[in-house]
Amino acid sequence: MKIGIDRIGAYVPSEVLRAEVLAEARDIPLGKLKDGLGVHAMAVVPPWEDTVSLAANAGLRALGDDVAAEEIGLCIVGTESGVDHSKPTAIFVHELLGLPSNCRTYEVKHACFGGTAALLTAMDWIASGSARGRKALVIASDIAKYPPGSAGEPTQGAGAVALVVSENPALVEMDRSTTGVFAGQVHDFWRPLDQTQAIVDGKYSVDCYLEALEHAFADYARQQESEDNGEPLSDRFARLIFHAPFPRMASKAHTRMVVDDWQSNSARSAQLPEDLTELVEKDAGERVDPTLWATRLIGNTYTASMYFGLAAILEREAAELEGKTLGFFSYGSGCCSEFFAGQIVEGASRVAEKIGLGELLERRKEVSMAEYERHHAKSDLRATENPEKPGSHFAGPIYFAGTIDEKRTYASHGRGASVAR
Ligand code: HMG
Repeated sequence: MKIGIDRIGAYVPSEVLRAEVLAEARDIPLGKLKDGLGVHAMAVVPPWEDTVSLAANAGLRALGDDVAAEEIGLCIVGTESGVDHSKPTAIFVHELLGLPSNCRTYEVKHACFGGTAALLTAMDWIASGSARGRKALVIASDIAKYPPGSAGEPTQGAGAVALVVSENPALVEMDRSTTGVFAGQVHDFWRPLDQTQAIVDGKYSVDCYLEALEHAFADYARQQESEDNGEPLSDRFARLIFHAPFPRMASKAHTRMVVDDWQSNSARSAQLPEDLTELVEKDAGERVDPTLWATRLIGNTYTASMYFGLAAILEREAAELEGKTLGFFSYGSGCCSEFFAGQIVEGASRVAEKIGLGELLERRKEVSMAEYERHHAKSDLRATENPEKPGSHFAGPIYFAGTIDEKRTYASHGRGASVAR
């Protein structure tokens, strides 16, 4: 059974802070942000957007005019910045998108791994026969927030990616039989229940990520041994899409993965020069950089980060990559990680041309440091008695309309969305 990603919808908040503005305000060398971290801008969340509205807007874009709400039998939202300890983000989305009442609906969490957990579960649901021909809507939606002035601040961001998962997918057919997993308890990044900002041991988290990659890829490689055709395993992928909390993390991951892999392959290692720097950079330029153009302008989107990488290459390169294999590495702090693969389907470019991520990024409003700090200080999880209405730059259509009697409400500028009661 062919199962995978049939449609993809990406959505980002309507405001953005440029790296130049942050660097000047915090007295950080711009080179550290742009070259050291790879961050050129970060998404800023205005008070009328939250994890639910981001998810719902991405969901609308994924369904588009091609997939009817009635076709969806499973809706899972992966997030670590949900709006309630009990009520799932997914049930708000269920109403806002008009999904059917017999659609199984819930939220999953494991830090940035939550979106991948949702995708893998949705594919198993289809393979098990429970779907009975229906499709799944998987949404990864998050707001990455650290204390102002902290080392994590430049790696904030926000956004959502929605995937319609189905049999005979139009975009990416996933290889479900072989995946490499690594999980283990570490305190690299966490967010206690009463806090809206994460606590992170930054440098340690980078080490944890790289160690998890090494183990997950080794687990993946063990399952491929019988198929070894002499080439290094990592060379089989036309593009490598890594979880990217900041773009340079993806380059670090690429280096860790390919150098180990090339050196352990006897045929390849015999041809390697002593200094691998140039070779590794060239390879990253071809196979990793094309996945990062949107992330550089959005920042970390936790669960959605790797899927922004997928949306980015589908939008710009689907035609050229049809029939080619992609490698994915998903990492969630805490930690759980998985390496897996998928193949871009013939004809995918006809669907991918509707993604419109570049256009969304272009229409955002650039904010000043003062506006960014005002939005950051506002608790995006609590009531707003007099909620601010979206500005004219809002791409929407769904927005957070404030909390009444402790109940969150949402409104829409139109098209397809109902308003939460
Ligand atoms: P830091 O202390 O600000 O930065 O922390 P640094 O001193 O390590 O510098 C960063 C890089 O900039 C270095 O390059 C410097 O050399 C370079 P590297 O050595 O790494 O190659 N640099 C410069 N380059 C050019 N010109 C200059 C200059 N100055 C320095 N003038 C850190 C960086 C990422 C740790 C911090 O931002 C942080 O704590 N971020 C949050 C945590 C994080 O993103 N961790 C990533 C792995 S964990 C993960 O991915 C999970 C996560 O998404 C959460 C989840 O799963 O839910 C976070």
